[in-house]
Amino acid sequence: MAQLWGGRFEKNTDDVVFAFNASIGFDCRLLKVDIEGSIAHSSMLCKQGIITEDECRQIHDGLYRIQDDVEGGRLQITDEYEDVHSFVESNLIDRIGEPGKKLHTGRSRNDQVALDMRLYTRNRLDEINTLLRDLLGVIYGIMDANRDTIMPGFTHLQKAQPTTLAHHLGAYFEMFKRDRGRLSDIRKRLNECPLGSGAMAGTTYPLDRELTAKELGFDGAMLNSMDGVSDRDYLLEFLSALAIIMMHLSRFSEEIILWNSDEYRFVELDDAYSTGSSIMPQKKNPDIAELVRGKTGRVYGSLMGILTTMKGLPLAYNKDMQEDKEGAFDAMDTAAACIRLFGGMLSTISFNKPRMEASAGGGFTNATDLADYLVGKGVPFRDAHGIVGRVVLYCIDKGCSIDELSLDELKGFAKEIQEDVYNAIALKTCVDRRLTKGAPGQAAIDAFLEQERIYLEGVE
Ligand code: ARG
Repeated sequence: MAQLWGGRFEKNTDDVVFAFNASIGFDCRLLKVDIEGSIAHSSMLCKQGIITEDECRQIHDGLYRIQDDVEGGRLQITDEYEDVHSFVESNLIDRIGEPGKKLHTGRSRNDQVALDMRLYTRNRLDEINTLLRDLLGVIYGIMDANRDTIMPGFTHLQKAQPTTLAHHLGAYFEMFKRDRGRLSDIRKRLNECPLGSGAMAGTTYPLDRELTAKELGFDGAMLNSMDGVSDRDYLLEFLSALAIIMMHLSRFSEEIILWNSDEYRFVELDDAYSTGSSIMPQKKNPDIAELVRGKTGRVYGSLMGILTTMKGLPLAYNKDMQEDKEGAFDAMDTAAACIRLFGGMLSTISFNKPRMEASAGGGFTNATDLADYLVGKGVPFRDAHGIVGRVVLYCIDKGCSIDELSLDELKGFAKEIQEDVYNAIALKTCVDRRLTKGAPGQAAIDAFLEQERIYLEGVE
């Protein structure tokens, strides 16, 4: 048991209490950012004349050696320490002696952990942003190759109107693009530095908070020291963004699962991204998509958990806040793995184009286009809607599609119908004539893809 705060106590902490109180088991992953923060803090202490240059140099040297030794496997982070901060400080003192004891001057673990979590979250946010960019690249590639791959579009999971695979996937492209935008917005609010807030009321030392903020890549120091140690909004915002990303991935997964089913057969998953059944030899299961859909729940859970932990906390720091870590780390790991795996699955999937197009030909997806055709012949839309409804009923009875009816049969419903109707309601025409901005028609989808190509080129 190695504690930083024994002085006031007459007895040792009970072992079970120590273990219950400790966070080293999970905050060990903050080692690197903890050291980064201590380097900046000690440099500033030196610049302000609070420690000497020699002390500062020894502190830096000791901290870098601790990091090297942990990364090189020569030093283990063990549970004899309460948390990563105690581990680093105790090790530093063991290594360099007296100067090590000065590192914590003008600092509290409260602002230290607030800083560490912010730095760690910022790194993970950037990582997730990059993963999303890669996923967008995969989606773009599929869209680009499938500008005219016709498929049915659905509403209420009923065939609605014909569209293209590029158009369908374009919706997900937009979602993930917005997710990236959300991350960038969050980053701006996150990027303020709590270091120098002390325990909650700042310190009596002449700390230069703007200097440490700049050194650590922040836009500035947080303006209120109580807020500095208490705020976890940035984490909740990030977890909210992860929850939304997971919701998008989950919807996409749901579609992949449906499309992979025997009823749809729109896609074939690559063997490397599917699994078999231990009893049914014919099975090829979409486990990755199902897991992504399933893991969405645990990311939502982390968000709810931390929101609930925070909701009753009086200012400023309370130990409850230690509970922000495991859920947050799990959500970050889960979302990162899901985005990565989903991209891999998507880039190896094969689309059954004939099957998709044939499916678009059923279910009267061109009914709206027949109504539009009649409007073009001078029939008011509401009347046209009624006429086509009767045509559909007739077809259902006969067991055929609209384009399989003879011209005479069609004329029986509306005298305005002529030979050109067949071209007007051909699937390709139905898609091509949808040229409004955001629609699947060739010119519209070309314009969309061009815009997204420029977007992808512009992002780092
Ligand atoms: N392990 C703690 C946490 O994660 C660090 C801060 C401890 N501060 C304190 N005053 N006990 O929140």
